[in-house]
This record gives sequence, C-alpha cells and structure tokens, in this order.
Amino acid sequence: MRLPEHIRRVPKADLHVHLEGTITPDLVKRIAHRNKIKLPDELLKREGQTFQWKEDPTPLGSLRGFLQAYDDATKVLRGAQDYTDLTYDYLKRSAEEENCIYAEIMVSADHGAMAKLSWPDMLAAITRGYEKAKAETGIEMRLISTCVRHYGPEGALKVGELTRAHPHPLVTGFGMAGDETAFKIADFLPAYEASGLKNRTAHAGEATGPATVREARDVLKIRRFGHMVRAIEDSALMDEQKAINAVPEVCVSSNMALKVFTDYRKHPLRKFFDAGLKVVLGSDDPTFFRTSIGREYQIAQEKFAFTEKELAKLTRNAIEEAFIDEPTRAKLLQRVDAFKAAA
Ligand code: ADE
Ligand code: ZN
Repeated sequence: MRLPEHIRRVPKADLHVHLEGTITPDLVKRIAHRNKIKLPDELLKREGQTFQWKEDPTPLGSLRGFLQAYDDATKVLRGAQDYTDLTYDYLKRSAEEENCIYAEIMVSADHGAMAKLSWPDMLAAITRGYEKAKAETGIEMRLISTCVRHYGPEGALKVGELTRAHPHPLVTGFGMAGDETAFKIADFLPAYEASGLKNRTAHAGEATGPATVREARDVLKIRRFGHMVRAIEDSALMDEQKAINAVPEVCVSSNMALKVFTDYRKHPLRKFFDAGLKVVLGSDDPTFFRTSIGREYQIAQEKFAFTEKELAKLTRNAIEEAFIDEPTRAKLLQRVDAFKAAA
C-alpha cells in the first residue's frame, strides 16, 4: 500500500507499536520455513497480507481472539535471527516508504521466552536489526519493556525484575499490554516498581471504559496511556485528563478492527485533539489490522480532516513525549520543524 506523496513526506513517529504485531505474513512464512514449523491453518488469510482470528462480536471478544492470533503468529519466532529480521523489516519499511523518523516499540520478555530467547539475547537481536535499519535510513528507535496483563502479576513482576537486572540503553520505559479485564491494575504496580524505569505507559480505555483509565492513572501515576479512547464516554474524565496533560496513544485502525468503535464518525481522535489533549498516533499491530504508521496519518487526514500542519503537530507531540534522551529529542524535533518550515 503506497502512501500518497503529500502524506508520505510528513515526518512521522510511531509511539504505540508491538514488535510481534509488525510481522508480515510473508515474514511469518519465511521464518516458519527456516525454522521448519507448520503454521496453524487458520492463521493466514489466503488472499491477503494479513491474519485472521476467531472472535465474538464485542470489543473484548475481538481483543481476546486477536491476542490468541498474535501469540500464534509469534510461535514461528525461534531465535535471535528471527528478532533481528523482524525489527529490521519493520523499521526499514516504516522509514523508507513512510518517512517514519522515530518508533518506540513495545517488547515483551514473555514473547522472547516463547522464542527461546533470554531477555538480554532478545535485546541484542533487536539491537542488531535496529542498527542496520538506522545505518540505512537514519530512523531512531527506543524500546518499552512490556508485561502482559493476562499472563498475571507474578509473570509481570518477573518482567520488571529482568528489566532492572539487565539495563539496556535502548530500553527507556516500562508498559503493560494485554486483556484489560484481567486482575486489577494495582496488582501490577510491583512490576512497574521493580523495573526501576520512571517512564511509564499502560493500555487502558481500549476494550474497557473510563474506570480503567482512572485506575491506571491513579495507581501507576502515568501520563501516557495506550489508547485511552474510551475516556470519551466520561466528560469529567476528559477534563481530568486534560488537567494532567495526558498523552493518549491513539491507534484508529486497531480500534476499528477490534470493534471498539463501529464507525470512524464515532471515533474520538478529532475530539481528543480539539480538546487539547496531547494526542500521538500508533500503528499498534499494523499487519494484523491492515495498517501502517503512514496509513494512520492518512486516516487522520482523510477521515478526521487533519491538515498537514496538524499532522506535523501529532509528530511533534510524539517526539516531545517520547521516552528518549534530550539530545536525540532535540535532533528529532529539528527534523519536524525543518519540515514545517519548508511546507
Ligand atoms: N497486545 C498487542 N496488541 C494489543 C492491543 N491492541 N491491546 C492489548 N494488548 C495488545
Ligand atoms: Zn497496543
């Protein structure tokens, strides 16, 4: 899917993307062949560059069905080379085809373990893919060590402890993904604290409503939220979120695919932006949701009437709120500002 040039040229940042969620069916097939693994028949849709999963027709049913497909696709990954290829493939195409200048990728030690990789080996493999892509395109990347809520608090605590035990210059934040109905957010506070990382985000307000957003904010003391879109259901919460200068990591195609909204007109992207929330965009699991970070910017323009200046503002928001060191932030902001000056 090629982007129109007026969208392609806008510098972009992907602030919400799961590493395994970027795997293309072609790469799944290539890696499955290399690792001599038979793919589950139902996973690959015959005709297209996407995956399929079983679901019941509610946001939670969709999310659970999708999370199973996500784990199934991940099962082909069996070693360091696979993670290097996966990282390189995503970064290279995002930078070259879509002018993505920064990606902050969620990585999961639990998924690394499924691929028989220790956390340090997983990070080393990802770093090799990044360094190659960066040398070829200039893209910057940082990682968010992410625990999986439905794997439970004990597993999450181990992820936090591993994160602290193996500090890595590219791992700059801690987060939580997974089924928002599993356990209570407070059960995961020990994992966040164990990680030793101050930069935090958590999925909240995707498949469940305003209460999860408040819980995540108050318990984990976060300002960045994975999704947060269902905050729109509660106007008092919207005011509270504005007051803390909250950063919703908005992933429109994901929300549509997982039936959080049934119609673009009901999606709150524009309302969030106009309310002054510091919105950033993410591709979430692009190959599962038939999207890419460039496509998310295109949707912002075509479905939500974002001007070029507003698209550049989304990137500026992302770089301002990215979990990166100040010199890199300054360098990336210069790239956004150079585009705005030339536009
Ligand atoms: N893990 C990968 N993608 C996710 C999503 N959209 N929501 C929750 N957990 C996820
Ligand atoms: Zn996500």
